[in-house]
Amino acid sequence: MIFYKLSNDLRDEIRHLRTLGKRIGFVPTMGALHQGHISLIQASALKCDVTVCSIFVNPAQFNNAEDLKHYPRTLSKDLELLAGFKNLLVYAPDEVSDVYKTDEDFAIDLGNIGLVMEAAYRPGHFNGVMNVVKRFFDLVTPDITFFGQKDFQQCLVVKMLIRHYGLPIQLEFCPITREQDGLAMSSRNEQLSSAERAIAPAIFKALLHAKEQVPVLSPHEIRKQVLNELQTYPDLLPEYFEIAETEYLHPVESWDDALNIVACITVRLGKVRLIDNIILK
Ligand code: PAJ
Repeated sequence: MIFYKLSNDLRDEIRHLRTLGKRIGFVPTMGALHQGHISLIQASALKCDVTVCSIFVNPAQFNNAEDLKHYPRTLSKDLELLAGFKNLLVYAPDEVSDVYKTDEDFAIDLGNIGLVMEAAYRPGHFNGVMNVVKRFFDLVTPDITFFGQKDFQQCLVVKMLIRHYGLPIQLEFCPITREQDGLAMSSRNEQLSSAERAIAPAIFKALLHAKEQVPVLSPHEIRKQVLNELQTYPDLLPEYFEIAETEYLHPVESWDDALNIVACITVRLGKVRLIDNIILK
């Protein structure tokens, strides 16, 4: 693993790798790394000669100052975790200005994807994601970039971004890595109290329960059932549970409405916001 603080140094190295004809994979993260992040790096290592992993808590995508303040930052632990990886370049800038060299706005109109679920509950969030991801793409110029399906809507946003700018980047979506009890791994899990942590697996249980009911119950009935089920946990507050087609996230009313359908959920558990999803068909 080689660690870069400065984008100019990374850019020079990437230029050099290009002259050698190396295939470059890219895994953007905000650090506080866990096995979910590692699975993306491993997926990249299988397909690329060199992987670039960025670690940068991007202020532009936080719509809430408290959330940004409390987001876990564990750089030395992260670097330790990555120390043994070969052909890995880690870009972890100290300064926001090393990423945001200009104030150009790369956000695009996302249509329905920019209106629903995370976009509705976190205004401006995806504009921040698009702005940082586009800047990283321009810096790293990856052949393939790897994103986790855990952030399903983010995957669709990045797909639109790549298409809009005509970037020659292949996009791979990687499966959700879970704890043994089913909780989707997340940097935010560290912020849960032990009582909250004990409740958290109820989220995935509810998603599994939803999937079991397809196609016997309608999307509407499943939605009602899941929300009722989750309301039995006192500290758990669902923000949304949506059943939607997987391309533009339009809600579906029947299982015949689309070829592929996903159930997406976000809950608040105490002060922590947790997100998860499951492909229903
Ligand atoms: P972060 O939340 O750190 O996630 C980085 C990448 O890891 C994302 O693609 C996310 O979907 C993936 N990931 C997170 N938890 C996962 C899990 N349990 N299983 C599989 N993949 C998982 O997403 C971001 O950062 C930021 O928005 C970013 C894209 C870096 C832009 O700032």
